[in-house]
Amino acid sequence: MLRTKIFSLVAVATATALALTGCGGGGEAGGSSTGGESGTLRVALNQTEEHPSYIALDNFGKRLEAATEGRWKMDVYPNETLGAQQEALQLVSQGAVDLAIVSGTQLENLNKDFRVFNLPKVFDDVEHQMKVIHDPKVTGELYTSLEESNNLTVLGGFTQGARSIYTNDAPVKTPADLAGKKLRVQESDVMIALAEALGASATPMAFGELYTALQSGVVDAAENNEVSYFTQKHFEVAPHFSQTNHLVGLDYLIVNSDLLGKMSEADRAVFQKEWTATHEEHTKLWTTATEEDIASAKAAGATFSEVDEAAFDKVLEPIAGKFIENDAQQALYDAARAAAK
Ligand code: GCU
Repeated sequence: MLRTKIFSLVAVATATALALTGCGGGGEAGGSSTGGESGTLRVALNQTEEHPSYIALDNFGKRLEAATEGRWKMDVYPNETLGAQQEALQLVSQGAVDLAIVSGTQLENLNKDFRVFNLPKVFDDVEHQMKVIHDPKVTGELYTSLEESNNLTVLGGFTQGARSIYTNDAPVKTPADLAGKKLRVQESDVMIALAEALGASATPMAFGELYTALQSGVVDAAENNEVSYFTQKHFEVAPHFSQTNHLVGLDYLIVNSDLLGKMSEADRAVFQKEWTATHEEHTKLWTTATEEDIASAKAAGATFSEVDEAAFDKVLEPIAGKFIENDAQQALYDAARAAAK
């Protein structure tokens, strides 16, 4: 199983490198009307084809292809086909894959400043989050901070919506209900601290391993938004969804830093314009998907319950203070809060 996955990763990575070089070499470099290369961009995603991120990226590809008259195409690989986020990040950094959607938790492992946007209470809601993370005055330095070290550029992001806790035995009302429970978290210091503050035992693992981990009892609980809860079928193995809404999560679109330089100026402008249209479409799709997926999970037997918000707030509020360590991080936090209503 593992060998098959590694083999397919290497095969896809090689094919990707060929796709770009092939098209670039045979394309319009030099005396062409555009002055740029062409190619098929590979995008790594860990969600299903029903997820708003897949739909928005797939539409991005179609618009990009039409607007560049076929010079730039896009293939979106869902379901961790190109690897879990940690591997996808590596492949984009190496240039074997062009783009990936990765959770903010992955980027905090490369530059701690990204932690600020992963904290509870930094964003009030999706609208607030999108305004902050697409404001170049706030994010300009942050989004280019990985170029020298990792050859990665952040283009902006998609919301993960509000994240909540779900369990296999009974709904959670207060953090005390999580005492001693093994709670799956993303691979990040902020998420581990959050689980521990809630009294749970933090178990970091990749997204794609979670269904089996819940099913087999390796973990008792997880936390995510309603859309992933439904599209990953986690409701089948953890039917109690407790609306803790403990943070508004964030996914980033990352690109290999050399890629945009391979596009002509005109194609790059099209790419940027269509990316803006893409994250705007994603935000709209998100609201509808959340409502629909709650209804579908309920119809399949999942329960959704409210929690004691004050009890959760008491635990969540001090977490930011533990992670803001320098002026740059404080400035990001202050800018985010200043944009709240
Ligand atoms: C969300 C998010 C993913 C992330 C996942 C997780 O689904 O959109 O990017 O990987 O949560 O909990 O790992």
